[in-house]
Amino acid sequence: MSDLSVVILAAGKGTRMGGEVPKVLVETDEGTLISHVLKTVKALNPKEIIVVTGYGREKVEASISGVKFAYQKEQLGTGHAAMVALEKVENKKVLILYGDVPLIKPETLQCFISGAKCLSFISEIVSRDTSYGRVIRDSISGKVLGIKERKDCSSSEALINEVNSGVYVVDTEILRKALSSITPKNAQGEYYLTDIVSYAVDSEIEVGTFTQYENGEFFGVNTLDELAEVNKILLERRIKRFEREGVVFRGASYVAPTVSIGKGSVVGASVELLGTTSLGEGVVVESGSLIKDSKLHDNVTVKLSCRIEESEIKRGASVGPFANLRAGTLLEEDVKIGNFVETKKAHLKKGAKASHLTYLGDCEVGVEANIGAGTITCNYDGFKKHKTVIEDGAFIGSNTSLVAPVKIGKGAIIGAGSAITKDVPQDSLSLTRAEQKVVPGWAKKFREKVNG
Ligand code: UD1
Ligand code: CA
Repeated sequence: MSDLSVVILAAGKGTRMGGEVPKVLVETDEGTLISHVLKTVKALNPKEIIVVTGYGREKVEASISGVKFAYQKEQLGTGHAAMVALEKVENKKVLILYGDVPLIKPETLQCFISGAKCLSFISEIVSRDTSYGRVIRDSISGKVLGIKERKDCSSSEALINEVNSGVYVVDTEILRKALSSITPKNAQGEYYLTDIVSYAVDSEIEVGTFTQYENGEFFGVNTLDELAEVNKILLERRIKRFEREGVVFRGASYVAPTVSIGKGSVVGASVELLGTTSLGEGVVVESGSLIKDSKLHDNVTVKLSCRIEESEIKRGASVGPFANLRAGTLLEEDVKIGNFVETKKAHLKKGAKASHLTYLGDCEVGVEANIGAGTITCNYDGFKKHKTVIEDGAFIGSNTSLVAPVKIGKGAIIGAGSAITKDVPQDSLSLTRAEQKVVPGWAKKFREKVNG
């Protein structure tokens, strides 16, 4: 936009947030408040962007680039901040926004600017009580008369449901005159930017309003609960984007901004996808699972209530229900991990299975190997961790302890209930069971004796 300057007001402390961080640097799940506003206005391609800084100036200025700064030494109000910015404005028209209103979409601004008068602002119809300034209109003609801050409103004015969203387009010359007319005679003793509207009305300058129904876009962050609300809206937007790309969400879930999900995937209710997690296409994650910093390839299934961290799972593998995959787990194609299985630094090769009740730590499991229920790799001797290697096609009988370091050769079979402490050669049977004794009739006699 060739003749447009953008001014972002960002000098306030944000007292209502309670912390010491300058308010515009408060972090949402997708960056600081001001980074959102900047991204939006940069999309309009304006001639210049001027950011008014004050409280925590150095920090705010260090966090952003590609803009000019205007320094507001004392925070005397939004009108005063605009005055400070005006000294740097070089273009005929100014778009003014607040640095604490992060969710505005560039297309909305585009639409607003293209229809703007000499002075226009965006108003919003809300369905709740807010701290926003009320738009006062003539009760008969409907003409805008001014904006009144909530704290300056009478109780009947406070009931007005059309509010000031805090986005204005003004001809620079009109803004100059309007700002020189405002005074801090109000409930907060501040210079209000909003008073430029009544100045225009008094000077018979036509005031335009671009009225929107409340949809979250003009949500301002003044308190911690409003920050939480913004994060909810950002999450909803992320989920909507995935849904448009063909991902199904069965219920409420949390997806971090750095997560990617391929089309045709299905995410159950109450799932958390965190960090750098990426899901391929056709992945199913059932309810209650948490996946962090992990890569799941196409057609992987994660059943009910699993925890997966810093792991990679290749095409067609299935995990859970109730499995715990800890850091360094690598499951190759078609591996099956069943219920109550824990893995850590475990590499299971193609088609290997551990279907129930198993701990696999610091180990390699060969192609198509079968790990019976209750198998434990005893990887820790109280001092050091040791490795277990189970080669291709080996069969580990149920309830076996593999005391590492130990190696089970290709195709070997381990009898159920064994404690294996020595390497087992390829294709052998190994078991460490005491011989089974059978005493015929003993049980019956025992019962007769006990029962008299
Ligand atoms: C402001 C509007 C209100 C509107 C609401 C929308 C005024 C007087 N009120 O109220 O009508 O409904 O936003 O969100 O404008 N700032 C400075 N310097 C200052 C004071 C503030 O740069 O001296 C900056 C703040 O850093 C903030 C922005 O201006 O980014 C808005 O200030 P804030 O105090 O939050 O205004 P609201 O009370 O929300
Ligand atoms: Ca605000």
